[in-house]
Amino acid sequence: MPKLVVNVDHIATIRQARLAEEPDPVHAAFLAEVGGAEGIIIHLREDRRHINDRDVDLIKKTIKTNLNLEMAATEEMQSIALNTQPHMICLVPEKRQELTTEGGLNCIDQEQRYRDFLRPIHELGIHSSLFIDADARQIQAAADIGAEYIEIHTGHYADARDEKKAAAELDKILASISTARDLDLKVNLGHGLNYTNIKAFARVPGIREYSIGHAVVARASLMGMERAVRDMAAVIQNFVD
Ligand code: PXP
Repeated sequence: MPKLVVNVDHIATIRQARLAEEPDPVHAAFLAEVGGAEGIIIHLREDRRHINDRDVDLIKKTIKTNLNLEMAATEEMQSIALNTQPHMICLVPEKRQELTTEGGLNCIDQEQRYRDFLRPIHELGIHSSLFIDADARQIQAAADIGAEYIEIHTGHYADARDEKKAAAELDKILASISTARDLDLKVNLGHGLNYTNIKAFARVPGIREYSIGHAVVARASLMGMERAVRDMAAVIQNFVD
C-alpha cells in the first residue's frame, strides 16, 4: 500500500508572508498525522524562504511518523542532515528565483558530487532519495550513485494543459517506474499531484510514497488540515481493492 507523505512547507509560506509566528508548520505536521499522513516532508531551502531551522528541529522531535527532509546538496545541508538525522533525505536542485522545485537533478553530470554527499548520510543509516525527471538515463545514473529511492517528478504530467500531453507525460512516468524497479530502486512520486490527477496511478505497482504539498495545503486552507489529509488518504486507500 503506497504511503501518503504530506509536505507542510506552504503553511510556513503563509507564516513568512507576514514574518509572523503563525500558522505553525509544527502544528500542521501534527494535524496531518491525525488526518492519516504516514510521513511529513519539509524542504529546508538555502534562503529559508518558508521552513527554517527551528521548524526542522521541532518537527523532527514532535512527529510520530517519519521525517523526510528535502534539501540541496550543499555542505551546510549535509551537516544539518547529519545532525538532525531524519528518516530520509531527498536531494533536489535549488534555484533562487524559482517558485517551487522546477525539475529533477542532473545525476549524470553530478554523479560524483551526489555520491560524496550521500556517503556519510548512508553511514548514519539515513535513507536517501533523488528527485529526478522521468528519464531512463537519469534513473540509471541514480542507481549508479547508490541512492535507495528515487522520487519521480510528476510535475510535467500534472501541469499538462491537454489530454494528449498528459497521456504522453504519464507514459514516461510509468516507463520510468518500471525501469527503476528493474534497477532495484524504490520509487516515490511527487510534484503537482492533486485529488484528481493522482488517480492515474491507482493500479500501478511498486509506488512506495506519494509526496503531496500544495493540493493538501490548498484544501486545508478552506477545510482544515486534518480533513484535507483524510480526504487524500481516502483517495489512495481506494487504489487497492
Ligand atoms: N516533491 C518535491 C521534491 C518537491 O520539491 C515538492 C514541492 O515542494 C513536492 C514533492 C510537493 O509538490 P506539491 O507541493 O506540488 O504537491
